[in-house]
Amino acid sequence: MSENLLKGKRGIITGALDENSIAWKTALKAKEQGAKFVLTNAPIAMRMGAIQDLAKECDTIVVPADATSVEDIEKLYAEAKEFLGGNFDFLLHSIGMSPNVRKGREYGDLNYDWVQKSWDVSALSFHKMMQVAEKQDVMNEWGSIIGLSYIAAQRVYPFYSDMAEAKAILESIARSYGYRFGKLKNVRVNTISQSPTKTTAGTGIGGFDAFYNYAEALSPLGNAPSEACADYIIAMFSDLTRYVNMQNLFHDGGYSCTGITEEIVEKFSDKK
Ligand code: NAI
Repeated sequence: MSENLLKGKRGIITGALDENSIAWKTALKAKEQGAKFVLTNAPIAMRMGAIQDLAKECDTIVVPADATSVEDIEKLYAEAKEFLGGNFDFLLHSIGMSPNVRKGREYGDLNYDWVQKSWDVSALSFHKMMQVAEKQDVMNEWGSIIGLSYIAAQRVYPFYSDMAEAKAILESIARSYGYRFGKLKNVRVNTISQSPTKTTAGTGIGGFDAFYNYAEALSPLGNAPSEACADYIIAMFSDLTRYVNMQNLFHDGGYSCTGITEEIVEKFSDKK
């Protein structure tokens, strides 16, 4: 693996809850590749304490911020800028949560206050992070901003509930802000659409095991593990991908382009 892909780069990594989190793996790899960054998560996630261990390992600090609060994001950027000694080259939005999914509400019986909460936490927070970054002018030229998405933005996964719309909004925000930030500061904005991954957010979705195994069977390469997702994020933060902008990038072992496999044909064939 090449080294120092992110040498001299500074940034913010949201969403590291525990060692399974995609953001956790990304932080370790960003450190390995020479980046300096600040970790952040919702104040409520601090209680678990694990993120402090990660911070120690990465020689950094944790600044609590609720990503739905513009005020918290403003404070986060101000503190991070002081700690890092300059503006940012990358931002990772690795945040998702739906009260409807958590509490098992069906798509035909959604609690609309919770829908607002799902969309605010999982999608609008991405816009807020960028709008505050623009207003505070904290992004360096040729910076890179990534959000994490899922294929339920394009296709129906019944148990994904109101998170499907959240991801569709997230991807749309990446396009719109990728245009705006591109023009303003040559900053690119993309989403990575990741395979099902065994994390707290992932396994909280009803029927997760089934669609994890199904995707594993359908993908020619199998499901992309979280470490590989972290590698892709690092590549997207590096200068090797400077002209990739406004894209939803599938990172799924080929799942999204596969209609059927020989094994599935065999399984469903009438001739046994
Ligand atoms: P995770 O549960 O480790 O991370 C989700 C994070 O969101 C947690 O750290 C949580 O504290 C944070 N969060 C929730 N509400 C917040 C708020 N108000 N302010 C700030 N942070 C808040 O799970 P994972 O899988 O690493 O999730 C990261 C991203 O990857 C999410 O956007 C998720 O939807 C996405 N993703 C996950 C997949 C999976 O199967 N695990 C598949 C495709 C995308």
